[in-house]
Parts: sequence; structure tokens; C-alpha cells
Amino acid sequence: MAEKTAEKKVETKTVKIYIMGKEYEVPSSLTIMKALEYSGYKYIRGCGCRGGVCGACATVYRLQGSYKLNVGLACQTVIEPDMYLAQIPFYPANRAEHVLENMSPAVEEILKRYPEIARCLCCNTCKKSCPQELEAMEYIQAALRGDLKKAAELSFECIMCGLCVSRCPAEIQHYNVAILCRRLYAKYMMPKAEHLKTRVKDIEEGKFDKELSEYVKMDDKQLIGEYDKRDIEAV
Ligand code: FES
Repeated sequence: MAEKTAEKKVETKTVKIYIMGKEYEVPSSLTIMKALEYSGYKYIRGCGCRGGVCGACATVYRLQGSYKLNVGLACQTVIEPDMYLAQIPFYPANRAEHVLENMSPAVEEILKRYPEIARCLCCNTCKKSCPQELEAMEYIQAALRGDLKKAAELSFECIMCGLCVSRCPAEIQHYNVAILCRRLYAKYMMPKAEHLKTRVKDIEEGKFDKELSEYVKMDDKQLIGEYDKRDIEAV
């Protein structure tokens, strides 16, 4: 007798969300980005890596019954019931032109290009808006004190999504200030790696030319073999 195969029904829990005011019912496990696509929207802008590193998918939302305006990355934030969603369109923050070679790592150089940092109210809205939970207010204050090392270190993981800029009442361009601090710090203040100098000298003297020309002639299989054979430094 043919065995009856009972089809196992997988129940998918769904929730209601609102996109630009229109109601949709979507699986509860989706991120905002996937929920938008599930609802029929296609990303043409505002989406890049889908992994939380490019900063392209800044989103604002409210939850029903809450006064709070929330922000997040659409590719990283899981939807919640009764979420009211809106994507933030691209708007460029002021980025001051600079040529590092003509600058010094001094606070005056930062203030000349970004005078608005002196208006910081210390309201901490920038930090509260940061999906990376970076100390945005602290790095702006460090820049204001001329402590470029601290500004560079605190902003190191910034993905430049712009959510801090979108909420700042003093209209500071946090991420552009931060990148200028990191560049000045790297060029003028950061200790140089001695081993890098040696390696660049080796390359310039042609120490690896023969090896490199052999690799260039190899096919994929040979290259994979060489890769597997390599010495791996002990951790
Ligand atoms: S798509 Fe790159 S951070 Fe979301």
C-alpha cells in the first residue's frame, strides 16, 4: 500500500508594517531591506553591501504608540510589528576640500573647514543615531580640542551612513570631520611601521620580481595549490 506522505506545513509568523504609509503583511523574521523587497519594492538606490558596512541603507522609522523617531540600517535592522518605515534619500553632507600636503595636524585646520563643530551642543543625538554605536559626540569634541588621535580612534569604524548628520541640531558633518582627522593623524602623527619600509624597499629592488612573474603564468589550479602550500604565521 502506498504510504501517505503527510506534508509538513511550516507556519510563517507575519506582522504588519507600513511603508510610506501603506500597510503590508510580511514574515516577522525579515530585515527592513528584505521586508521592502518582499512587499514589492525594488532598490535602485540606498542599497549596497547588504552586510552593514557600506552605510547606503539609512532608514528612519516609528513604532506605533511611541513618540520616538528611530533610525537604523535597513540591511541590519529586523522589522517589528507596526513599524512605520521611510528610507532616507541621498543628500550630500558638506565636505570641505583639502590637500593634506598643505595642512598641519592642528585644530585650526579643522575649524577653518568645519567651523560648525564649535556649535556642538553636546546633546549626544549623533551617538544615539549611530547604527555602529560610535561615540560621535566624543570624537567631535576631541576634534575640537585638537586631539586628532582620539578623534581618529573613536571614529575608526564609521561607515559614513550619514544618520548622525541627519539628526544633528548644530548641523555638523560628523563623518567628514572624522575622516579629515583620520587622514591628518595617519599622515603626520601615527608611528610609521618599520617593517613596511623594509618591504617596500625589497619590492623596489625587485626582490619578488621572479616569483611574481611565475605566479602570473599559473592557471587557477596551480595558484590554489600554491595558496594551500603557503606558510601560515602562527597566531
Ligand atoms: S546595504 Fe550596506 S550597510 Fe546596508
